[in-house]
Amino acid sequence: MKNSVVPIWTESTRNLIKPVVVLVITFAATVKLSQALYRYSRRRARNRSETMSSASSSGNEADVRRSRVRSSKLYFDIPNSKVPLIYSSAYDISFLGIEKLHPFDSAKWGRICGFLLVDNVVDKNCIVEPREASKNDLLVVHSEEYLNSLKKSANVAMIIEVPPVAIFPNCLVQQKVLYPFVNQVGGTVLAAKLAKERGWAINIGGGFHHCSGEKGGGFCVYADISLCIHFAFELLNISRVMIIDLDAHQGNGHETDFANDSRVYILDMYNPGIYPFDYEASRYIDQKVAVASGTTTNEYLRKLDEALEVAVRSFDPELIVYNAGTDILDGDPLGQLKVSPDGITNRDEKVFRFARNRNIPIVMLTSGGYMKSSARVIADSITNLSKKSLIDTGKNITNR
Ligand SMILES: *[C@@H]1O[C@H](CO)[C@@H](O)[C@H](O)[C@H]1NC(C)=O
Ligand SMILES: *[C@@H]1O[C@H](CO)[C@@H](O)[C@H](O)[C@H]1NC(C)=O
Ligand SMILES: *[C@@H]1O[C@H](CO)[C@@H](O)[C@H](O)[C@H]1NC(C)=O
Ligand SMILES: *[C@@H]1O[C@H](CO)[C@@H](O)[C@H](O)[C@H]1NC(C)=O
Ligand SMILES: *[C@@H]1O[C@H](CO)[C@@H](O)[C@H](O)[C@H]1NC(C)=O
Ligand SMILES: [Zn+2]
Repeated sequence: MKNSVVPIWTESTRNLIKPVVVLVITFAATVKLSQALYRYSRRRARNRSETMSSASSSGNEADVRRSRVRSSKLYFDIPNSKVPLIYSSAYDISFLGIEKLHPFDSAKWGRICGFLLVDNVVDKNCIVEPREASKNDLLVVHSEEYLNSLKKSANVAMIIEVPPVAIFPNCLVQQKVLYPFVNQVGGTVLAAKLAKERGWAINIGGGFHHCSGEKGGGFCVYADISLCIHFAFELLNISRVMIIDLDAHQGNGHETDFANDSRVYILDMYNPGIYPFDYEASRYIDQKVAVASGTTTNEYLRKLDEALEVAVRSFDPELIVYNAGTDILDGDPLGQLKVSPDGITNRDEKVFRFARNRNIPIVMLTSGGYMKSSARVIADSITNLSKKSLIDTGKNITNR
């Protein structure tokens, strides 16, 4: 029985060899091809995400950033009849009353502008209106992944610290929250160009110093300071920038973005006892000046004088980005410092004198400052800068 089976088996095996070989070859080829296709598409996807993101510092990356900056519309020619005070009514946030749940005066920017107009410091038609930052502009610093994360309202709610925003449809969040911010970002970027041309520029907004390319927080959704500086590197023939960050909080966003970048010198004077406690980012501060809770005006201004002395001996900037948060004001629930309104005026005057005496273009951003009184204080300080001829707002208010 067994013997009789063998030849049949052998015969059928012999008959099977040809189709099996064909089958195996076909199968192997299919596997190889699909593996290749898979690797190809992986590579394509990686190429694409590398092209989009700006986290890496490869040569290709720098080229992509350069071409993004060069195709941007954020820089445009401003006629000399305009004054380098930058503001747009699109800056202000109103969100069905929800904005009132945040201690932030979300109409601060419009109110500052209103005071400057009423006090006749500047004419309405002399104010520069910026363009909004596009996705292409934001990608100069931000990753595609970060920008996509803003398509979830819950993420935006977390960053701006207004939990109810989480339940709103994202289109509403885009329009009511993110749109004002991209306009302010456009203002900060444009400010550097104006500062280079006119010696100074003030964006009545911006200063989102907690946001880095990969991470937002503390009311800061976009890294306007980092964007402003990258545009200046690329388009203004500038290669050394000093950030003077005098908001009460640590500027962990720009510190993270310019970690180990010798083109940027960071002077950060902040209260280390409050948000964000970012010790990693604090390693990238060139000059760290701690101002403890309860610091009063005189002590604050003395520390500032010393810090500016040290800064000028350490670095020779071609542009200063001054982050002029007013949450150092006495009574601010977040900053916990005790600087008076006149102290703010003196502070701003010191920084402007520092820059103007040395012919260094200066960009000022209004940043934090969460009380209803902040707008008045900021407007008064800008008025004083004009009175003291540190800025020219097109009005002769020196002798009034
Ligand atoms: C990926 O990019 C490199 C150079 O940037 C290019 O040589 C390569 O062909 C690209 N690969 C694919 C699959 O697009
Ligand atoms: C760029 O800046 C350097 C000084 O930093 C100057 O010598 C040079 O002329 C500038 N180039 C242009 C095109 O403005
Ligand atoms: C900065 O440089 C230090 C020392 O070279 C290094 O340990 C650190 O990882 C660098 N940080 C970044 C963010 O590149
Ligand atoms: C600032 O200007 C206001 C008037 O706008 C004036 O009352 C005040 O004394 C000035 N403050 C300082 C510190 O110069
Ligand atoms: C401003 O007005 C004063 C007199 O009121 C005059 O002396 C001064 O030259 C004027 N300055 C400018 C820049 O017009
Ligand atoms: Zn702050």
